[in-house]
Amino acid sequence: NTTKMVKICCIGAGYVGGPTMAVIALKCPSIEVAVVDISISRITAWNSDQLPIYEPGLEEVVKQCRGRNLFFSTNVEKHISEADIIFVSVNTPTKTRGLGAGKAADLTYWESAARMIADVSKSNKIVVEKSTVPVKTAEAIEKILSHNSKGISYQILSNPEFLAEGTAIQDLLNPDRVLIGGRETPGGQKAIKALKDVYAHWVPEDRIISTNLWSAELSKLAANAFLAQRISSVNAMSALCEATGADVSEVSHAIGKDSRIGPKFLNASVGFGGSCFQKDILNLIYICECNGLPEVANYWKQVIKVNDYQKNRFVNRVVASMFNTVSGKKIAILGFAFKKDTGDTRETPAIDVCKGLLGDKASLSIYDPQVTGDQIQREISMNKFDWDHPVHLQPMSPTSVKQVNVVWDPYEATRDAHGICILTEWDEFKTLDYQRIFNNMQKPAFVFDGRNIVNIEKLREIGFIVYSIGKPL
Ligand code: NAD
Ligand code: UGA
Repeated sequence: NTTKMVKICCIGAGYVGGPTMAVIALKCPSIEVAVVDISISRITAWNSDQLPIYEPGLEEVVKQCRGRNLFFSTNVEKHISEADIIFVSVNTPTKTRGLGAGKAADLTYWESAARMIADVSKSNKIVVEKSTVPVKTAEAIEKILSHNSKGISYQILSNPEFLAEGTAIQDLLNPDRVLIGGRETPGGQKAIKALKDVYAHWVPEDRIISTNLWSAELSKLAANAFLAQRISSVNAMSALCEATGADVSEVSHAIGKDSRIGPKFLNASVGFGGSCFQKDILNLIYICECNGLPEVANYWKQVIKVNDYQKNRFVNRVVASMFNTVSGKKIAILGFAFKKDTGDTRETPAIDVCKGLLGDKASLSIYDPQVTGDQIQREISMNKFDWDHPVHLQPMSPTSVKQVNVVWDPYEATRDAHGICILTEWDEFKTLDYQRIFNNMQKPAFVFDGRNIVNIEKLREIGFIVYSIGKPL
């Protein structure tokens, strides 16, 4: 067999690039995978025992492949120039200034990656969009590459990633589908086949779908919009449940039994968070507006508005039930990450809840098993960008930030507290010794369960006043 070893380079060693490439390396021993990044500290961490992200199962995969056919490097140019297939998995955050500020995707990092590819390539390349991008981005990238091509031919593919944090490795090993969009030309079809061959090492063929470029790009935004829409729908129902005596878990269970609706993603919560749902829906809204479709834009806006409403509602519930003031009261915050099994705090609902409570002068004691104090302080002191009215709001005052104490033990966090807010569904919060916690708290002792994970009956027997999302009082 004389075929030469396929080389893959991935630009961007983040939550997507790192795990995705680690799994490709694991499943394709015949392919050499290099993950490159401009962040020296990130690459150093990928090459150390302390990986830059916490993700169950990731460390085992990285340890198995690193140095064999998986490499992490800051030598971006070398690895791009050697690669046959280049994945671009850089960040694509919401623009904070200029045209489309507050909604449109900021493609600065994407464009600089594309220009770097154009600069250093000496052979034909397949360039794969892994980042989530606005529909039609491939056209822009094609322009940048072809106008700087020096006779090299490029094929652009869209191969969006659907993994969720906390389950990334499982999602990558056993994806519902892999989506590959490409040009409907012979060259485009050949490129699709080359990328299909990579995934076919472990993904059954009927789960590898190919489409045109625009369908693939748009499907990613559509998938996230539909997922987030389910959460806002059930959260909207949770408010009505609280007003009527219905129980949102019972309602979710009942409607989820309809096979057309299905049981997943129907957990009412304090609100969805994470780096993507809000960003991608805002991006979708902007694209609709640019295409003269304000009704469609407004439809999706409501998904974010209901999410903001849910976070506000939670804060108001805490303050109102604690006799309309939390001023000077210690409140324990259990969980700060945007979901369990990750240390990621990007857009976590905990930021808005904590800021809301600090606005009412509470004193917060925060515990999360995977998030450091520095990271929490940084998130809380950062300006919030208002997507609806793009202006920078007042930063938190230094005194409010002083009212935040981060501790490494849930019993410490809750000692002498007036109330507890559960903001992340970490499994360990289900099995805490709540009697011990109760004994050391101020009375009446309140629990506000933003994730519906505690046993309400048991806690009420101990003596807690318990509020859950969408549950009868
Ligand atoms: P991230 O911020 O964790 O990682 C991006 C990395 O790209 C950073 O380390 C940054 O230093 C690097 N980078 C930026 N510009 C670069 C350049 N020119 N050259 C080299 N490196 C560069 O972001 P992420 O969470 O991995 O997300 C990446 C993309 O994937 C986004 O578009 C996101 O929407 C999408 N996505 C994310 C998830 C998720 O769960 N986080 C899931 C699916 C899709
Ligand atoms: C989400 C999607 O699930 C992935 O398919 C997608 O690839 C990814 O976004 C992305 O594009 O970045 P992720 O944000 O990592 O993944 O995590 P999710 O499990 O979707 O949770 C998002 C938020 O919704 C979390 O705050 C979670 O607590 C909340 N959620 C989720 C609920 O409140 N209720 C639910 O029923 C499910």
